[in-house]
Amino acid sequence: MPTNTQNLLDHRPTDKVSPANFRIVETPVPAPGPGQVLVRHTFLSLDPYMRGRLSDAKNYAKPQEIGAVMGGGTVGVVEASMNPRFKAGDSVVGMGGWQHYSVSDGGGLRVVDAKTIPIQAYLGPVGMPGVTAWYGLNKIIAPEPNETVLVSAATGAVGSVVGQLAKLAGARAVGIAGRPEKCACAVRELGYDACVDHKSLRFPEDLKDALSNGVDGLFENVGGEPFRQALKRLNDFSRIAVCGVIASYEGEPTAVPDLRLFIVRRIKMEGFLQGDHTDLWPKAIGELVGLVAAKKLTWRETIRDGLENAPQALIDLLHGQNFGKMLVRVD
Ligand SMILES: NC(=O)c1ccc[n+]([C@@H]2O[C@H](COP(=O)([O-])OP(=O)(O)OC[C@H]3O[C@@H](n4cnc5c(N)ncnc54)[C@H](OP(=O)(O)O)[C@@H]3O)[C@@H](O)[C@H]2O)c1
Repeated sequence: MPTNTQNLLDHRPTDKVSPANFRIVETPVPAPGPGQVLVRHTFLSLDPYMRGRLSDAKNYAKPQEIGAVMGGGTVGVVEASMNPRFKAGDSVVGMGGWQHYSVSDGGGLRVVDAKTIPIQAYLGPVGMPGVTAWYGLNKIIAPEPNETVLVSAATGAVGSVVGQLAKLAGARAVGIAGRPEKCACAVRELGYDACVDHKSLRFPEDLKDALSNGVDGLFENVGGEPFRQALKRLNDFSRIAVCGVIASYEGEPTAVPDLRLFIVRRIKMEGFLQGDHTDLWPKAIGELVGLVAAKKLTWRETIRDGLENAPQALIDLLHGQNFGKMLVRVD
């Protein structure tokens, strides 16, 4: 009888996440009931928000239940369907969690075209990270042609899309990334005008040099030192889209320094969650799919193999070891 391998949260981390916080179990593959769909997963999405869900501290996402399959985005193929909206063989994206198979009533499950676009892209540039980039750039920063947009984690799942959308809007795009190879990719593959390595000892000077016209839009993915240095380069009437502070998820909180700066420079700073804007998803996804199909939007991936390696993949993502969208292949 085929079994469903599942990765469960065993207990919450008290400090940093470790593989020991998770546990693998084997269960029978579930049979779909009336109105249900059985999906065989091919890729899991690893996302920074998962760190928040491992804790029971108050957050925007509810805590991950202990002893339950770790939640998360998945893509896969419908194996069997008793729901008229889906048929066997459909490629789908959903929230199936860290397991080989999931049963769904179809809520939150979407059929996607995996013939023209690789299926795992629906977890990256044409999925939640892409919509996040689209929203923060278009609705908060709204760059004018020739303005400068600065993007931290510039080659990551969200950042890589922000930089390319900023360029398509006619802006100058400058990235911050964590290794010379990442900076080279930002400029050569993703089209950034410049990219600065935040691990270099010369980071503050290099950032200043790359931003001779200052910053009009800051897309903040990281917090910490990159954010502190970026604040020094903001122009009058600049906009900051606060998307994430990954440097603080297992590190020191990122504080906002002297508020007076926000008055002197008339800066707008806005935190946002893509999940609050589901009404805009069809528009955003439609545009992103069009750009990928037209080969105007590209991306990087780091793929780990095996469900058992999902915890380490999450840990590596939280510590900047990914290069592009972090995925686990489970097929
Ligand atoms: N607001 C929303 O709705 C929303 C939705 C999705 C994601 N987010 C946020 O967007 C940000 C990017 O998410 P993503 O999925 O696209 O991840 P990602 O950028 O693909 O990966 C995270 C990257 O952060 C960078 N980083 C810099 N300093 C770090 C540090 N101290 N520790 C760990 N990583 C560090 C690393 O890149 P370098 O090595 O190049 O620095 C790392 O590769 C995260 O903060 C996430 O929480 C927000």
